[in-house]
Amino acid sequence: VALAGVAGCDTPGQTGELLASEIPLPEPFRVPLPVPPVKRPVRRDATTDWYDIVQRRAEAEILPGVRTPILGYDGVFPGPTIESRRGRRTVVRHHNRTDVPTVVHLHGGHTPADHDGWPTDLVMPLSGTHSHSHSHHPGRITQGRRDYVYPLDQEAATLWYHDHRMDFTGPQVYRGLAGFHLVRDAVEEALPLPSGDREIPLMIADRAFASDGSLKYPAMDPAGHTAGPMDDWIEGVLGDVILVNGAPWPELEVVGARYRFRVLNASNARRYRLTLDPPPPGGPAFVQIGSDAGLLAAPVEHGNVDIAPAERFDLIVDFSGYRPGQVVTLRNGFGAGGTGQVMRFRVTRRVADESSVPARLAEVPPLVPPRDAPRRRFAFSRGRVGDRAGWVINGKPFDPSRVDATPRLGEIEIWRLSTDLHHPVHIHLSPFQVLSRNGHPPGAFDTGWKDTVDLRPAETVEVAVRFTDYRGHYLLHCHNLEHEDMAMMSTFETK
Ligand code: C2O
Ligand code: CU
Repeated sequence: VALAGVAGCDTPGQTGELLASEIPLPEPFRVPLPVPPVKRPVRRDATTDWYDIVQRRAEAEILPGVRTPILGYDGVFPGPTIESRRGRRTVVRHHNRTDVPTVVHLHGGHTPADHDGWPTDLVMPLSGTHSHSHSHHPGRITQGRRDYVYPLDQEAATLWYHDHRMDFTGPQVYRGLAGFHLVRDAVEEALPLPSGDREIPLMIADRAFASDGSLKYPAMDPAGHTAGPMDDWIEGVLGDVILVNGAPWPELEVVGARYRFRVLNASNARRYRLTLDPPPPGGPAFVQIGSDAGLLAAPVEHGNVDIAPAERFDLIVDFSGYRPGQVVTLRNGFGAGGTGQVMRFRVTRRVADESSVPARLAEVPPLVPPRDAPRRRFAFSRGRVGDRAGWVINGKPFDPSRVDATPRLGEIEIWRLSTDLHHPVHIHLSPFQVLSRNGHPPGAFDTGWKDTVDLRPAETVEVAVRFTDYRGHYLLHCHNLEHEDMAMMSTFETK
């Protein structure tokens, strides 16, 4: 199936093919920034919060005046934000009222294997009309709904939940199945950071739109099912519209004070180099206070922030140096034209700002591997997946029945990740720390607890990882979702 609109990779800094929209695109900065609704639990007791989420088809107005069919948690994109407290169990009952099998993964969750969203642990749609001929590796299949149990005995962090269905994660996330899940704790709450309406999650994701307003994804049929080979798209799908919290190039009115933005790159394949234009007079553009898996030990200043798919950066931006009335654009240095901008801030007035960024944020004990620490190597590259081109780890495409590594719980290991191209590598179960990048100290964006590390062409990154608490089968994979669907995934079993 030949597809129109293939313009190739739009800039350096990307692996992917640009998919062009077939519909007039809106002027940027006309839509106010939406903030995803915070979900209320249906029940709470001494230890547990219970939630109910209905996955369903819905119509969203993403582009002004255009109706776009989506697949949404509770019918919205992004899905509702869940807020948990450290150590309080959270049980999310997901009802599948879509017409496709789904799997939910809590990305960054320290979760028992049964609830981690193994790609063949399908939740079948209630409608029962879908033929599941693609699931040649049946997992623990449930009908209509599933309870995901999350202990969340972990530090305050910005997690997110998204679909993880084998071979279909790219299209299902693209169609809307992604939301924030924040973990809060007393350590974070004791800090004088901006909060309330000055603490805002920003989910950045690119999309393209077909002429009828639907989301355009390669090899998707008009009903929104994925059909046909993705051979021309193995590099990854890049859209030409940048959405923040589901709105195209939105604008946010801000007061002249500090804000805390929990930035998530939920794009299938696109990387961003975030900058502020103009930069704040006399200060850094961004002060990073947190990484994927929690607060940093101390804040880190950045003029730009490079963010790969699935990474999170918890950033403070201080608008107090700007003039009231000034507009400030959040740009993407890895894009051009429309993809070169993300959103805009409009500074309204000066206010007294009680918030501050303390020099010490949290305890982040370094993971120091012992001399005889077990070492493993994972090489990410192009390869054959059956008779097609795809992506492999150590030469092998994903096979859910094969175990590639058996780390022992509690032991610090050194994992050496090497790559041919851009691959954002994600490890489930426990966060890790970057030890080195190409034999040098970790890079500017590697600080703190990570669960996803951005590998650039020809790089080798060493990370220290220690899995704890839960035995079972977990995943290591590329978070470019087209690479993941085309088999760049591997299983480790914690013993
Ligand atoms: Cu965000 Cu295995 O995924
Ligand atoms: Cu990849």
